[in-house]
Amino acid sequence: MTRTLRTQVAVIGAGPAGLLLSQLLAGAGIETVVIDRKDRAYIEGRIRAGVLEQGTVDALSEAGVGDRLHREGLIHHGFDLCFDGDRHRIDLRGLTGKSVTVYGQTEVTKDLFERRFAQAQQFFLGASDTRPEGLKDTRPSVHFTHKGRQIAVEADFIAGCDGFHGPSRQAIPPEVLRTFERVYPFGWLGIMVERPPVSHELIYANHARGFALASMRSQTRSRYYLQCGMQENIADWPDERFWEELSLRLGSDTAASLQTGASFEKSIAPLRSFVAEPMRYGNLFLAGDAAHIVPPTGAKGLNLAVADVRLLSRALIAHYLDHNDHYIDTYSQAVLSRVWKVERFSWQLSTLMHQFPENSPFEQRMQRAEFDYITGSEAAARSIAENYVGLPLE
Ligand code: FAD
Ligand code: DHB
Repeated sequence: MTRTLRTQVAVIGAGPAGLLLSQLLAGAGIETVVIDRKDRAYIEGRIRAGVLEQGTVDALSEAGVGDRLHREGLIHHGFDLCFDGDRHRIDLRGLTGKSVTVYGQTEVTKDLFERRFAQAQQFFLGASDTRPEGLKDTRPSVHFTHKGRQIAVEADFIAGCDGFHGPSRQAIPPEVLRTFERVYPFGWLGIMVERPPVSHELIYANHARGFALASMRSQTRSRYYLQCGMQENIADWPDERFWEELSLRLGSDTAASLQTGASFEKSIAPLRSFVAEPMRYGNLFLAGDAAHIVPPTGAKGLNLAVADVRLLSRALIAHYLDHNDHYIDTYSQAVLSRVWKVERFSWQLSTLMHQFPENSPFEQRMQRAEFDYITGSEAAARSIAENYVGLPLE
């Protein structure tokens, strides 16, 4: 027997995109049901992004989940690019008047869950076999199994916030969906350690041995990444080997301040650029990683998901409160225009900062020339800075 429920917006996915959308809609009195295949502890524990643009901080504040972020987030006015040991600071505030905030995706997700639970949001966590159906109908629905029961959620709209592997994008017919993809020939090996960061700002380093990133979550917790081969095995990277390699890539001056210790998380992530068009099909809207992936260089993934949700919530609020469908009709086009610019930046910074196995000495010289251009030209540095702090919403 199928249990049928009705709501206004069925949200598939309780990552940052789905949770924030549900929270923003709740603020306008719009009802949602949120469905995820994982449980709350798993979702909150997923270690991912760490740098928030001002627009993301503003969106979380407007959604009423900014208190802890404002108390605990670290405001960064710049970051360093480093090339074979030469360090150059990009002065974000001086070049753009803006800054970024270091606050982990785990914390963003915890804050959103706490608020949604406090407001008695209806969740189906641990759902399986989730299928969006009837996307061109006036009452589309989401079907899934939850605790052994078949559930159908009928809605006016479905928000596909279910990440890269979720079912929403796959529900768009192949003759309608166009995808664009680049898979990079390496991954990022990341560790988390309970030690103060090597520097008070982030360092992105390109070294002949590969890329390295020195990041953080707080003044006592550091996050470091190393470019690694896609076939690498975590078991081959004991902490001592990681610290040795990181020290080489950051250069001896920086490494002199490195505080090493036992890591408590270690994982390898692939790097990919991916865009799906369109981001609306009938009454289904895609948002976040469900529609696009950026390589992590430049920390845009989470920020892009939040920007999508800001535009999607505006469109749905205009529909329900003002009976105005202009933003619904232009959602896909408006979001994709910004998505492609952010894809370009993430691809450019990834291309500049990594060692590509196929690079000839010519391409290596091109990378060095681009670094020298950025360090010598305020216009070039400002271009990096304005993308890093976040492009305007439209
Ligand atoms: P997600 O966070 O992926 O959330 C999607 C949700 O949908 C998940 O909770 C998932 O369980 C759920 N879902 C999936 N399938 C189903 C289904 N069948 N039914 C129901 N629910 C489903 N960005 C950065 O800026 N910096 C980083 O360092 C960084 N590191 C990353 C590391 C990894 C391993 C990954 C995968 C991503 C990383 N990102 C990083 C990107 C960033 O975390 C994402 O862009 C961000 O999480 C996007 O949010 P989202 O809500 O769109 O998707
Ligand atoms: C982090 C990840 C990034 O991709 C990035 O560009 C900066 C910071 C991080 O996880 O801390």
